[in-house]
Amino acid sequence: MEVLIRDNAETGCVLGARIIARVVRENPAAVLGLATGRTPLRLYQELIRLHRDEGLDFSRVTTFNLDEYVGLPATHPQSYRHFMQENLFRHLNLDPARTHVPDGTAADLPTECRAYEQKIAAAGGIDLQLLGLGRNGHIGFNEPTGSLRSRTWVKILSEQTLRDNSAVFGSVEAMPRHALTMGIGTILDARQILLLAFGPTKVPAVAQMIEGPLTAMCPGSALQLHPRAMVILEEESATGLRSTAHYRWIDRHKLAWQRYD
Ligand code: F6R
Repeated sequence: MEVLIRDNAETGCVLGARIIARVVRENPAAVLGLATGRTPLRLYQELIRLHRDEGLDFSRVTTFNLDEYVGLPATHPQSYRHFMQENLFRHLNLDPARTHVPDGTAADLPTECRAYEQKIAAAGGIDLQLLGLGRNGHIGFNEPTGSLRSRTWVKILSEQTLRDNSAVFGSVEAMPRHALTMGIGTILDARQILLLAFGPTKVPAVAQMIEGPLTAMCPGSALQLHPRAMVILEEESATGLRSTAHYRWIDRHKLAWQRYD
């Protein structure tokens, strides 16, 4: 796992956008795995800026989002399809037919999950998967104890996750209890993984993910198995780590082609 600690979330997000931009420049038909939530918002703004000001071309890019709430149609303001539409898709020159978010309204959810896996495979797999990190260590909606080899499936949201995501719904009671999410096995199949985690609430989960044991109790720790996983932190979210001097040393001694900023 490559740990990159930046001064603040702003510079971390700009770096994250550069990493994604390089993937798209090197392969204009890249397949991107995307996340929702507060963490990637600034990164998405930077991608939009790169598209607008520097001509970053998304016309041949395919996207697969990690997850969607069960029962929320694409038009629902709290659905992840709506979130992506508003915060990214409508600002880029993506082909709408190549943007994928699991369908939380599917009548047969297990079939929808299998179909999602098949679509990812048919697109040639995911080149880069963007991730945030839950306060309880979740990635996607893979909550603690979920199988480290899982494929896209239906998950029951933990009480912690419901509380963390309830602000936009007004209350926990108003929230769906279930979500469709790529499994941890699906995520690990991506050729490159980029996880962002900022702020004080993520300190314990960041420390467990990077320096703790590989365990289903911290789904993010599964990234320890991935040959090309990058984690972007800022000073605050890195405060629970023991080996920050080592991570900074590695960062400083990277070869020119390994650098993004
Ligand atoms: C979002 C997702 C979640 C979030 C995580 C962090 O699609 O799958 O795992 O990345 O809950 O959320 P924020 O960024 O809001 O702190």
